[in-house]
Amino acid sequence: MASKVFFSVSMSLDGFIAPESPEELMGKQWMELQAWVFRLQYFRDSLNLPGKGEVGRDNDIVRETFERTGANVMGKRMFDAGEHSWPEEPPFHTPVFVVTHETREPWERKGATTFHFVNNGVEAAIEQARKAAGAQDVRVSGGGQTIMQCLNTGLIDEFTVALAPVLFGKGIRLFEGIDASRVALQQVSSESTSSLTTHLTYAVQTRKE
Ligand SMILES: NC(=O)c1ccc[n+]([C@@H]2O[C@H](COP(=O)([O-])OP(=O)(O)OC[C@H]3O[C@@H](n4cnc5c(N)ncnc54)[C@H](OP(=O)(O)O)[C@@H]3O)[C@@H](O)[C@H]2O)c1
Repeated sequence: MASKVFFSVSMSLDGFIAPESPEELMGKQWMELQAWVFRLQYFRDSLNLPGKGEVGRDNDIVRETFERTGANVMGKRMFDAGEHSWPEEPPFHTPVFVVTHETREPWERKGATTFHFVNNGVEAAIEQARKAAGAQDVRVSGGGQTIMQCLNTGLIDEFTVALAPVLFGKGIRLFEGIDASRVALQQVSSESTSSLTTHLTYAVQTRKE
């Protein structure tokens, strides 16, 4: 089967994936948004966080998401938020293509993660990621602006939203700027794994006139 381009994010019930400012990133609502993932063994191990963490269906979903990924694409704001908080061995273990206006040499980290800085847009970043991923899939890791450009230009094959029972009221909206005249969805699956999240997966299609 041909490899896919996908994204997988946690979203509040009112449609936000992050607070507006990076300073609020560890705030209460962010912790509630990510509560389903912070407690998991796979996630804690990948960030060298203390404690054993939980196993089970959510843990399997996170592990499968990372294991299917041969390369990542992300926006510069997501990179900026992570640059100083990811451990020496970041949790990607793949090439990561950062879409940005900034020119910068590749940044090689421990554990086979190298960040490459791409200055000619999302299509070029996805093309480079596809080559690097080989038979594996390409994950557009975030954030909202980068995902939206990929969706609107028909680059995304499928996506999963982990819907969390939290309201943000304001912040970075996942579907801000969506071209609804072009993007149509088909629901592939829905799975409520715990009281902390429901996983919704959709295939993306081009809307017919
Ligand atoms: N809830 C979740 O699961 C989840 C997942 C991932 C990320 N997030 C959050 O999402 C937030 C970031 O999202 P965001 O929408 O603000 O930003 P973003 O998509 O991460 O990055 C946007 C930035 O990337 C660069 N960029 C994007 N497209 C470009 C293009 N075509 N050409 C050149 N540069 C381009 C620009 O930066 P420059 O002009 O500075 O280069 C732009 O300001 C973070 O807070 C992160 O934590 C949440």
